[in-house]
Amino acid sequence: MPKMRAIQVSRAGGPFELVERDIPEPAAGSARVKIQACGICHSDSIVKDGHFPGLSYPRVPGHEVIGIVDALGSDVSGWAIGDRAGIGWNGGYCGYCDACRRGNFFGCQTATYITGITSDGGYADYTIARSEALAHVPEDLPAADGAPLMCAGVTTYNCLRNSGARPGEVVAVLGLGGLGHLGVQFAAKMGYKTIAIARGRDKEALARKLGALQYIDSKAQDPAAELLKLGGAQVILATVTSGDAMTSVIGGLGINGTLMVIGAAASLEVSPFQLLSGRRSVKGWYSGTSIDSQDTLAFSVLTGVRSMNEILPLERASEGYERMMKGDARFRVVLTTGH
Ligand SMILES: NC(=O)c1ccc[n+]([C@@H]2O[C@H](COP(=O)([O-])OP(=O)(O)OC[C@H]3O[C@@H](n4cnc5c(N)ncnc54)[C@H](OP(=O)(O)O)[C@@H]3O)[C@@H](O)[C@H]2O)c1
Ligand SMILES: [Zn+2]
Repeated sequence: MPKMRAIQVSRAGGPFELVERDIPEPAAGSARVKIQACGICHSDSIVKDGHFPGLSYPRVPGHEVIGIVDALGSDVSGWAIGDRAGIGWNGGYCGYCDACRRGNFFGCQTATYITGITSDGGYADYTIARSEALAHVPEDLPAADGAPLMCAGVTTYNCLRNSGARPGEVVAVLGLGGLGHLGVQFAAKMGYKTIAIARGRDKEALARKLGALQYIDSKAQDPAAELLKLGGAQVILATVTSGDAMTSVIGGLGINGTLMVIGAAASLEVSPFQLLSGRRSVKGWYSGTSIDSQDTLAFSVLTGVRSMNEILPLERASEGYERMMKGDARFRVVLTTGH
């Protein structure tokens, strides 16, 4: 049986282990992808720390994958061996259950799994995905550039384009990590008056370079008051991991403004008065399906949006993960396999 490298976690809180595994075979409806690059997302901590009901171990994390289709199970249409493919965490859908027929593919209970969380993901040489969970990758997009777009990218892009904000309106991006630094670029390219909010001054120059018209240092300034000086934000894209940080900006929403929550904070305090006095709302958002990822890749190529990456070989996953968790990565760590 041919073997591959994989980085697995054997128990909640356990270390990353480099192991040798059999190369998996794709079942009916699935493809095997030879991985070229995989981003390290903060959500990989769900597997590392065991923050998800019913997780089973060992598990290979990773849901920001770009690679090449290398084997196909039966009953796969639209994909051929040698095609470039991207994989995010949405694990596909059956297409015939009630949820799918309503277009609510994330509601599918039949085929759905979560890549890198309930099935083995991208910290490896190969992974398996259902064919409807694959995104086509543009020719001219290098694998390491594309990988972070499969979660950090699609989550921010798809959230913004569904947020209801119109070009010219004030959109603030809270947090400048892997998601946030892409959120700023997408917001700027979509024509919003883009404001970046992060802790400290060291990210200001980069935020402006990425397209922010204004930078708010949440350590030195009151971000809500600063946003109100601009007339209030129509949308705040909250990418941070801290609920307190999200709470502190809600007062900066304009009339009918929305806090779009994508950061997986433990809790969030909202004053009903703040909501009702300005018809403000707080809304959650998760990434998207494979066609949303494909749109994200296409928009990024069209407009020049790129993740700023620190590239490490697969074997150094643990080091890359630590850099991300400490907030040292500028801005995404991407693992490459050499394929
Ligand atoms: N909804 C979805 O579908 C989805 C998809 C992907 C990720 N996520 C979640 O989105 C969040 C961000 O992921 P990421 O990969 O971008 O993570 P990351 O690169 O590690 O960035 C973390 C961000 O959180 C901020 N932060 C951390 N501690 C903070 C604190 N105490 N106060 C204020 N801000 C703090 C940092 O702010 P500074 O910039 O100020 O340092 C940074 O912007 C995670 O919770 C992740 O699980 C959700
Ligand atoms: Zn992610």
